[in-house]
Amino acid sequence: MQPGVLSPQNNPAAVSVKLEGVVKKFGKVTAVERVDLELPAGKLVTLLGPSGCGKTTILRMVAGLERPTEGRILFGGEDVTRLPAYLRDITMMFQSYALFPHMNVYQNIAYGLQVTRRPKAEIKERVVQVVQQVGLSGLEDRPVAALSGGQQQRVALARSLVMQPRVLLFDEPLSNLDAKLRKRVREEIRDLQLELGITSLYVTHDQEEAMAISDLVVLMNKGIIEQQGDPRTLYTRPISRFAADFIGRANFFEGRYHGGYVEVAGYRQPYRQEGISGQVTVMVRPEALRIQPSGEGLEATVHQVSFLGSTTEFSLDTPVGRLEGVVAGDAPELPGRGERVKVQFAPQGMFLLPA
Ligand SMILES: Nc1ncnc2c1ncn2[C@@H]1O[C@H](COP(=O)(O)OP(=O)(O)OP(=O)(O)O)[C@@H](O)[C@H]1O
Ligand SMILES: [Mg+2]
Repeated sequence: MQPGVLSPQNNPAAVSVKLEGVVKKFGKVTAVERVDLELPAGKLVTLLGPSGCGKTTILRMVAGLERPTEGRILFGGEDVTRLPAYLRDITMMFQSYALFPHMNVYQNIAYGLQVTRRPKAEIKERVVQVVQQVGLSGLEDRPVAALSGGQQQRVALARSLVMQPRVLLFDEPLSNLDAKLRKRVREEIRDLQLELGITSLYVTHDQEEAMAISDLVVLMNKGIIEQQGDPRTLYTRPISRFAADFIGRANFFEGRYHGGYVEVAGYRQPYRQEGISGQVTVMVRPEALRIQPSGEGLEATVHQVSFLGSTTEFSLDTPVGRLEGVVAGDAPELPGRGERVKVQFAPQGMFLLPA
């Protein structure tokens, strides 16, 4: 592979990955109920969901480390369900990336190629190339124990990339890093993935991380896929309360929808949504709350206002419960605690679910 030249469109090595009716049971425990899923060639797909929902189990089946109880796994149309892990051309990155502490950067990255007995010159060429890609040039001779957490993570990434896998798998690779570093490394991972166009499956329980890096987010709940889509669709059109709650923050309350209005405790909010009517659960994102000093709106009393730097958060007590809101930056115009206000909802931050 030529780095920098390839894009998802012209990476000839990119394969799609398909799971068809995949079930996994461990004795009496059903870890994966039934999953049908397609990773388009060259795309990054994230499995997102709470602890125990089956993310790692799916990843391990794609890797060939677990055999599905039922169903098939295909790489680019080839059935790999019974193919052992070492013949699948995949690499996997974990949260504990288990570098060899007594080896330097170069040796750690070269290790996999040496095990597979590639010629020395080829190993050198590939390692040098990947060291550049991940921004570790100049650190080749450094023992990995003398690297920062972020640099170690890049060595782990380089060690995966140097194998030129058909599929890259990540299982919560950033959970050992602090918040700032996590953000930087996830951007690096995404940059490289886009540049190289390697089909990737990424497991996380952090919804922000999933949204930030994914072409497609697959939200899981108790061994099944709750909803899948691009980050924007998941955020704006959640199919259930679970989905709305897991992706981003949301307020929920009961209302009635008919004739182009949502009625909430006497207030009529103009709104349109196809395919739903009558009693509904209204979901409103915090950024969609619009406070008015008076006039039209749901009656509310300001409960709290907290300036957090880049945002100001507030909460309101209303007849349908406490609602959480947020505005950008400092917001000196916001009424203070105890003041009575009216609140409206921006339609683009609302979505109705069956009651
Ligand atoms: N080898 C095993 N034997 C028995 N049960 C297992 C095994 N591996 C996983 N499970 C069970 O299968 C379910 C799914 O586990 P899995 O590790 O896939 O979850 P996960 O979504 O990765 O969770 P986490 O976010 O905590 O890593 C859990 O109930 C788990 O206890
Ligand atoms: Mg897991």
